[in-house]
Amino acid sequence: TIYPDSEQASVAVAREVARLIRERAAQGRPAVLGLATGSTPTRLYEELVRLHREEGLSFANVISFNLDEYYPMTPSSLQSYVRFMHEYLFDHIDIRPENVHIPDGTVPPEQVAEFCRRYEEQIREAGGIDLQLLGIGRTGHIGFNEPGSGPASRTRLITLDHITRTDAASDFYGEEHVPRRALTMGVGTILEAHEIVLLAWGEGKAAVVKRMTEGEPTDSVPATYLQRHPHVRVVLDEAASAEL
Ligand code: GLP
Repeated sequence: TIYPDSEQASVAVAREVARLIRERAAQGRPAVLGLATGSTPTRLYEELVRLHREEGLSFANVISFNLDEYYPMTPSSLQSYVRFMHEYLFDHIDIRPENVHIPDGTVPPEQVAEFCRRYEEQIREAGGIDLQLLGIGRTGHIGFNEPGSGPASRTRLITLDHITRTDAASDFYGEEHVPRRALTMGVGTILEAHEIVLLAWGEGKAAVVKRMTEGEPTDSVPATYLQRHPHVRVVLDEAASAEL
């Protein structure tokens, strides 16, 4: 779906998320959301906060799983995704703290494998992800699944691509401060979500959006594996759609 601008797109997707949450609440069931970070979803989160404040949208029945986190990373750091999610969403809504899941960047190296296994188990115990929101990196990554990530990959520790670290450099005041690794849900984990909405804005994403949607599925552009999902939608602004 191509919108004239990211503002209209973000508001429309926020309404869809709100509809899912309300539908589930009416059925007395949780809504399980897969959440993304980065600049792309910030306007969408702002709109969800507005719907909470002005239209009484409750998040009491929402269970959330974030895609990824830098590793190592302390939650209080300026660049942590824990901090990001609190700043843009969780601190302003009524989600229950025990229903929030974000990969833990403080897990000691020897416990990473067990942490990742448990993260997957928690997603399954919640009944799977109803709606997964995604951004896309210039390398074609979803979450932090860099080129080389296959369709069966699971939650794990990954080494970040040079381009990704360059793109994150300004957040960390220099590329040398960007962590070399990250914890991320796998491509396989993401593909198990019942429904996926990928958002991309701006001309900087136009080339990778074309590769993702028109290229053959390949490990070199992990986002191409979304083509195999039966309920995926790509939501773009005009600029991100320019090369299609
Ligand atoms: C990071 C995140 C991704 C996100 C990407 C794009 O790499 N781990 O989940 O999609 O950035 O970021 P932005 O939305 O700022 O372009």
